[in-house]
Amino acid sequence: MKRIFSGVQPTGNLHLGNYLGAIRNWVRLQHEYESIFCVVDMHAITVWQDPAELTRTTREVTAAFLAAGIDPERCVIFHQSAVPGHAQLAWIMNCVVRMGWMNRMTQFKEKAGKHRENASVGLFAYPALMAADILLYKATHVPVGEDQKQHLELTRDAAQKFNTDFGRAVFPLTEPLILGAATRVMSLRDGTKKMSKSETSDFSRINLTDDADLIAQKIRKAKTDPEPLPREVDGLEGRPEAANLVGIYAALADTPREAVLAELGGQPFSAFKQALTDLAVSTLGPMNAEMNRLLANPDEIDAILKRGAERAQAIAGPVLDEVYDTVGFLRV
Ligand code: TYM
Repeated sequence: MKRIFSGVQPTGNLHLGNYLGAIRNWVRLQHEYESIFCVVDMHAITVWQDPAELTRTTREVTAAFLAAGIDPERCVIFHQSAVPGHAQLAWIMNCVVRMGWMNRMTQFKEKAGKHRENASVGLFAYPALMAADILLYKATHVPVGEDQKQHLELTRDAAQKFNTDFGRAVFPLTEPLILGAATRVMSLRDGTKKMSKSETSDFSRINLTDDADLIAQKIRKAKTDPEPLPREVDGLEGRPEAANLVGIYAALADTPREAVLAELGGQPFSAFKQALTDLAVSTLGPMNAEMNRLLANPDEIDAILKRGAERAQAIAGPVLDEVYDTVGFLRV
């Protein structure tokens, strides 16, 4: 059986990177895999979140999943804190993964910054919770953007160590699915930095909540270089901003970068940016409208999350029982 699990943190500013690197791929994969998609609110609080804002963004991320085309009948859509097994298995994973593995996690180093002593223990243990998310459903594949690769390697190591330590093949070794032309969307202001929810300049990213005017403005202001667009992919070498915009175009149009350059190469950036704006607005506009419709009907979102949590629990329950038996926890 092929089963995917993936998640998005409700930490505000859901952006084009989240969409092209993850959510858009899920829409296609839902037809090939049994699919479970999670709003990972427990991961979000590894860094302080305003409580009212966390509630709002949990619904907003759910609305984005639905507006992008994820079918709540076909897939399980829920929020992490609604299924207690995530926290329960995370504790066991904390006891399986090694400090040395965690110390190597680049995302922790980036997020904790210079003042590591002030980072929460939750932020350090973040990858163990992520392993628990995936293994609680025995997911075989995890579709994510490139930045999650290291966390998925740790998930495999954790599964393998658990299986070896207890002498039972309880967990599968999960494969990452890093797909499409935009697995690492970069900032619009600096082609060497990842597009991110936490970057202070809002002009560094296109948010899924931006309207057409703002999308146009952000693309117009996006950093470029003085050369026209190359005609071949080789010509993007050493031109990170150009490479990023071409990657975004290719992903939005669902076509290879070669085809984009064959059609638009040789043009000045002003013309390419206009074409990119038209494409981005025509793709994101209807999604934005549907997100707003859903957000005006929070009961509809909550009902989907409630049903999703029940379905997730039905899968997770027996797996957690198996894990408890394997570990030797007495179940009376
Ligand atoms: P998060 O919330 O940071 O991002 C959600 C998804 O978006 C992808 N992504 C990007 N893809 C391309 N370019 C970018 N600039 C970009 N920024 C983000 C991420 O790779 C991710 O797929 N740890 C995860 C959430 C998580 C999870 C899981 C994922 C928790 N448990 C279990 C998979 C399986 C995270 O912080 O994603």
